[in-house]
Order: sequence, then structure tokens, then C-alpha cells
Amino acid sequence: MTAPNILQVESVAYDEAAGELILLDQTLLPNETRLLRLNSVEPIWEAIYALRVRGAPAIGIAAAYGLCAVLHAHSDQDVAGFRAAFGAVKERLASSRPTAVNLFWALDRMQGRLDGLVEAPVPALKRALLAEAHAIKAADMRMNRAIGEHALALLKPGDGLLTHCNAGQLATSKYGTATAPMYLGQERGYNFKVFADETRPLLQGARLTVFELSQAGIDVTLICDNMASMVMKNGWVQAVLVGCDRVAANGDAANKIGTSGVAILAKHYGIPFYVCAPTSTIDLACPDGAAIPIELRQPEEIRSMWYARPMAPEGVAAYNPAFDVTDHALITAIVTENGVARAPYTESLPPLVQP
Ligand code: MRU
Repeated sequence: MTAPNILQVESVAYDEAAGELILLDQTLLPNETRLLRLNSVEPIWEAIYALRVRGAPAIGIAAAYGLCAVLHAHSDQDVAGFRAAFGAVKERLASSRPTAVNLFWALDRMQGRLDGLVEAPVPALKRALLAEAHAIKAADMRMNRAIGEHALALLKPGDGLLTHCNAGQLATSKYGTATAPMYLGQERGYNFKVFADETRPLLQGARLTVFELSQAGIDVTLICDNMASMVMKNGWVQAVLVGCDRVAANGDAANKIGTSGVAILAKHYGIPFYVCAPTSTIDLACPDGAAIPIELRQPEEIRSMWYARPMAPEGVAAYNPAFDVTDHALITAIVTENGVARAPYTESLPPLVQP
């Protein structure tokens, strides 16, 4: 059987009849397309923690549907028990990954929907929560398309673009964020030439970004992270586009480890550096990057995980932050679904977040 085009497979879906969260297991890509069907809290927590589903918007959507899946079989007679179970599942899923604010944004939206239905019986609560999860996913699709339009207006046909990690369709409901202008440009004959950093240590660029962009027929070239400077110096990059896990009120932006280095390089070579972020990724309650929690992951991801044999002495100390913060001074603009924010971000972001 031939493998499906990965763009035809949804990263996150929900089977209403079975009450199951369906996840495309991204840890197996690009070699295997396997769907997971989950309906209990620990496997859903593990799927988020282990990056089977990853990317800020996809994590939020998965958590919203995850709540529905876990509560699907809950007794229709026990309202107090249903609300208590909701709280427990929400708390557990919120502990899966700390940096992407979309996870907490989506869980809080689900909580708001539940809290708004004071007298409702359990079946009505289940229906309302599922409607909210569907709305979160549908809104994500609309936001990404709008980000694509705003970002495309900043680019020219034939531009060379560089991206880091995977802020693509696999990380969202559709289009991706940083990749949305690439997909729209592809539809409109822009002939972009994309360079994708492999993105050490978990290789989201190599395994995911070049996979989905090449399946879309976009001209994409894989580079190791330490080749970005060379590619920029050669004059092959006219803009850098990255996604984001959390934007602070002052415009500091946390994204996959290595992003801030790319921004420093872009500044050096005079290349615009754009952060593509739906408003679900903007956390105005977070004053600056120092207040963004940065996830630390297992040393094995650096020492041995991707190799046939370990590539570092056994037990050697390894520091493995999953994200870094790009200083707002290095960011040319933050592209949201509601428009493009430029410095000073403390003034330009609030009207876009609450238009
Ligand atoms: O650890 P990951 O793979 O979840 O990190 C993902 C990123 O850093 C993405 O760039 C970000 O979540 C934006 S996805 C539209």
C-alpha cells in the first residue's frame, strides 16, 4: 500500500462515535504514518510529553479533544463527579509541557465553557465541551490562513526563506503558522526557495518540515542548524519565518531551541526575522521572556536517542532546554491573524490580541 500524502492526514482529530482522540504519531515520521486512538488520561499525557503530538497549536487542540475523550464514557447521572473529573484531567494535561501557552489557553477555554453552563446535565456538558474543542480547531485553521495572508504581503516572489523547527501543518490544524505564507505562495506561483534547519536535537525540521513542504511540491532544502550562517552569507535568504510557543507582552518570543541564534544571525546579515503567532500564542500576562517557563528535557535526547550507538560518553552531563527566548529587539515583526505587530510591542500587541 502506498503511504498517504502527509498533508491529507490530520495531526489531531476526534472520533465522535467512539469518543476517541486521534493523533498522528509524529515521532514516527517521516518513515511511518500511524494513527493513535486514545481515550484515557495517561496515554494522552504521554503523547503530548513524548511529542507524538507537538507544536503549540496542535498541543492545545489535542488537550481540548483529550478532555472530551476521557470524559466521553463518564456517567450521565453524576454532574458533580463529571465536573470533578474535568478538573482532574485538566490539571494532569496541563502538566505535560510548560512552554507553549496554547495548551493552557485551550484548557482554559474548555473550563470557561463548562463554567458557563451552571445547571446543565452531563449530556449537555459533554456536547458543549465537544463543540468548544471543534471551535478551537476551526479557529486555528482560520487564524493560520490569515497569518499566511499577512505574512505573504511581507514577501516577494522568488524569495529565499529560512525556517527553524516545524511550525507547519503538522504542528497545527492546517497551513501551519510560519509555513502558511509558503503554502499560500505555492498556490499563487511565488516560487519560494525554502531552507529548513534540521533542528537539533529532535530534528523537527528534518523529519517534519522538509517532509510536509516537499509533499506540497514546495522547493525545500534541508540544512544542519550550523549551516544557516553560510546560507545567509551566500545571499540565499531574504526572510526568516519561525513559529512560536509563547510571546510575552514586550514581544520576547519563546520558540524551539536554536531560534534565538537564527535571529542573531539574521540581524547580522540584515535579513528580516518574522515570528508567526496566532493570538492563542500571545500571553500578555507574561511581561517578558524571563517569565516564560522553559522546558528542560531528558539528556538522552542529546546523548544517544537519534543514533545507532551513543554519541557521547555514558552518563555525561547534558543540558537540554527545548526552547529559547528571542529578544524582541531581534524581531522585525510578529505576524498574527489580526495583523502585523512591530516595536514597541507593548503598544502594538494588545489591540491585535483584543481587536
Ligand atoms: O517541541 P516542539 O516540537 O513542540 O516545538 C515546536 C515549536 O517550537 C514550534 O515552532 C512552535 O510550537 C510553533 S508551531 C506552529
